[in-house]
Amino acid sequence: MTRPRRPSPPNFGGFTPSPVSKPPKFAGLALAASGLVILAGCDTDSPSALDPQGSEADTLADVWWLMFGLAAFVYVVVGGFVVYALLRGRRGERVSRIRDNTFVWMGGVVGPLVILLVLAVATVAATNDLREPEADPLRIDVTGLRWWWQVIYPEEGIVTANEFHLPTDRPIEIRLRSEDVLHSFWIPELAGKMDAVPDQTNVLTFTIDEPGFYRGFCAEFCGIQHANMGVAVIAEEPDEFQRWVAREQTLPTEPSNELEAEGRRLFVSEACAGCHTVRGTGAQGTLGPDLTDVGQRRTLAGLAIRNTPERMAEWITDAQQLKPGNLMPPIELTERETAAIVAYLQSLK
Ligand code: CUA
Repeated sequence: MTRPRRPSPPNFGGFTPSPVSKPPKFAGLALAASGLVILAGCDTDSPSALDPQGSEADTLADVWWLMFGLAAFVYVVVGGFVVYALLRGRRGERVSRIRDNTFVWMGGVVGPLVILLVLAVATVAATNDLREPEADPLRIDVTGLRWWWQVIYPEEGIVTANEFHLPTDRPIEIRLRSEDVLHSFWIPELAGKMDAVPDQTNVLTFTIDEPGFYRGFCAEFCGIQHANMGVAVIAEEPDEFQRWVAREQTLPTEPSNELEAEGRRLFVSEACAGCHTVRGTGAQGTLGPDLTDVGQRRTLAGLAIRNTPERMAEWITDAQQLKPGNLMPPIELTERETAAIVAYLQSLK
């Protein structure tokens, strides 16, 4: 048996490749550090699309896991070959009886084609599934504005903002629009991202499985406060949701004390009423969020701050400090006036 000939060094047309330099020592450190940065994103408070709580999110998570599985398989196979080649070193003998060309055809053409075909079928099937119209959905209109979300329940006659209630076990149909620039509505645990586009209505349908507080985001860069354009769904059992609807339809209640009454008078006569609506009062502005039920919201300003009396007072007197660039101007008020308006707004629930 003759020893196979050592392959001759590759000829690069006279160009001699320089030996591969060793990676600098800190490369491993940098890699580890970047890994830590990525892991820091896995904060347990962050909603995850891989923790689906609704029909659409379920479908999307299935596609995600299929993609992940296939990618992991390719990674392991390719990595295995790399490790094998490294261990084996540069020897000329044939690896197996399979011809080298067969490897190229299988690994470079047939394998990728099969994988892409499987993914294409899964993706098209999932997309069709998501577009399937549902019977008797709860229809709501959600509009993206810089930087908050307006939410209207046309059949129930409810208008609210940023935080809104939905029932479980009933199909939801969100008709998405934008009033200004492109936004993207995304509640990872419930559904995929959908763009909110000016002069166009995009429809998002899903059913929620479990009651809960589901946080979402604007997922399309839309200006300086894009990161503070949060949205949240409070999902409730159908009975509880109906009670919420009934309560919303009977808002607002009359002020229950002198301070609230003064707050209401100020709210309607000061700049507030130019931009905000409180149903049943003279305040009918439409530039900013409808505040008819603001007292029951957990957050303000597109989930940017918690809705406590102290934070609300800061927001009313100097909103630019908390969320620069938003439309709300600073308002000159005495401490007593601020307290009165806050008391009134907090009573709207
Ligand atoms: Cu709206 Cu980003």
